[in-house]
Amino acid sequence: MTRASLDKQPSDVAAMFDDVAAKYDLTNDVLSLGQARLWRKAVAKAVQARPGERVLDLAAGTGTSSLPFLDAGAAVVPCDFSVGMLREGKRRHPGLPLTAGDATRLPFRDGVFDAVTISFGLRNVQDTEAALAEMLRVTRPGGRVVVCEFSRPTWRPFRTVYTEYLMRALPPVATAVSSNPDAYVYLAESIRAWPDQPGLAALMARVGWEKVAWRNLTGGVVALHRAVRPRG
Ligand SMILES: C[S@@+](CC[C@H](N)C(=O)[O-])C[C@H]1O[C@@H](n2cnc3c(N)ncnc32)[C@H](O)[C@@H]1O
Repeated sequence: MTRASLDKQPSDVAAMFDDVAAKYDLTNDVLSLGQARLWRKAVAKAVQARPGERVLDLAAGTGTSSLPFLDAGAAVVPCDFSVGMLREGKRRHPGLPLTAGDATRLPFRDGVFDAVTISFGLRNVQDTEAALAEMLRVTRPGGRVVVCEFSRPTWRPFRTVYTEYLMRALPPVATAVSSNPDAYVYLAESIRAWPDQPGLAALMARVGWEKVAWRNLTGGVVALHRAVRPRG
């Protein structure tokens, strides 16, 4: 079984997701205590995909995060670099145009998407800024981005309880429900090492995204960052 470490070697990250693919969605629902569904709804609302728009769902995994855009009538392209996750996605959602691609070298031309989104994926990419810059490149001028990622709970007492949950309860629960419990040690470590809300906003602004703003979900356990590509 493979587990990535905080240096996030792309081959280790891809292999780790290959291992968890079959049970990924179930484990997600259990470990997030059902919040994952609410977070997905909030992403769909933030992206506001309209019929006919082209939406890139980057690090889409099994494609579950892409379904709300399909439902909205958009042409969604789910893209991921784990062949295991893509294969599981193809099995579950044969109609989705699942595409293989690395977030730091996207296989798309400049400015082809109206919106780009990434849910629980950016934290796993070795070079965050390179991925944010690639997302900017493939978005049309005036187009938008929404990043959904674990973040920093804002209320200190809750933050302490949450950190305890991550470090203590999550690995044994993952052992019960996941095909690769070690992957959830990486999950806990990578959440703790990830920038907080202003930190991620600063990275987005640094690569050229404009009007960067965020909204906390579940008290800041998750944050949605959104921004737009400058028009000229
Ligand atoms: C936690 S899953 C999220 C899947 C989906 N977006 C969701 O919300 O359920 C993270 C995904 O990021 C993908 N990933 C990580 N690094 C990537 C990269 N550099 N390029 C493309 N996909 C990547 C992994 O293969 C994995 O499927």
